Amino acid sequence: MTILIDQPELGVEAGVNKLDNADNELVLDGGFVVPQTNSFGHTFRDYHVESERQQGVENFYRTNHINQTSDFVKRMRTEYGKLNKMEMGIWECCELLNDVIDESDPDLDEPQIEHLLQTAEAIRKDYPNEDWMHLTGLIHDLGKVLLHPGFGELPQWAVVGDTFPVGCAFDKSIVHHKYFEENPDYHNSDYNTKYGVYSEGCGLNNVMMSWGHDDYMYLVYPPLCV
Ligand SMILES: [Fe+2]
Ligand SMILES: [Fe+2]
Repeated sequence: MTILIDQPELGVEAGVNKLDNADNELVLDGGFVVPQTNSFGHTFRDYHVESERQQGVENFYRTNHINQTSDFVKRMRTEYGKLNKMEMGIWECCELLNDVIDESDPDLDEPQIEHLLQTAEAIRKDYPNEDWMHLTGLIHDLGKVLLHPGFGELPQWAVVGDTFPVGCAFDKSIVHHKYFEENPDYHNSDYNTKYGVYSEGCGLNNVMMSWGHDDYMYLVYPPLCV
């Protein structure tokens, strides 16, 4: 695939938003227009539309909610906190995501690289002078490389989907909440109270979130920022 951008290593300095099917070439046309509906003609983030895609999303969340326990998150943070899987540039990592489909997303069945570029471009359209934010949009989902064999080829439920705190009661507002009833932590009195293992006002830094691409990038970013 040929990519026409000013800075291929970052991909955020030009209006890249259109994939030309004829020769698989990304074409610059000056910006990304945010659509009103998703690829399936529904409003965004609607988890209640009846469709095959939605059934897949619900099955995804069932497996996710059953398996994301405090112990699992601790094991993953220890293992992936070593940051010893692979070294690569940002653009190389973007390209690695090109074959990945996020099964938790009710709005999108495009390759992830398009999602990254569209996010960066949509942010640039709204905040043209905040270049740090364009870059953040571009890299925000790079943690999905956890799906790749070089990073352990974790299952979808351990990589994508919305995140939530573990170690305390699962909040009712979490999508498809009913499936937490099958999570061992749901029945563990150390974890199933309002504050669980935490204390009020302990600070977000001390709260463990379910494991996935967001938490992985949270571990990766600090060395990137040095
Ligand atoms: Fe994400
Ligand atoms: Fe995303």
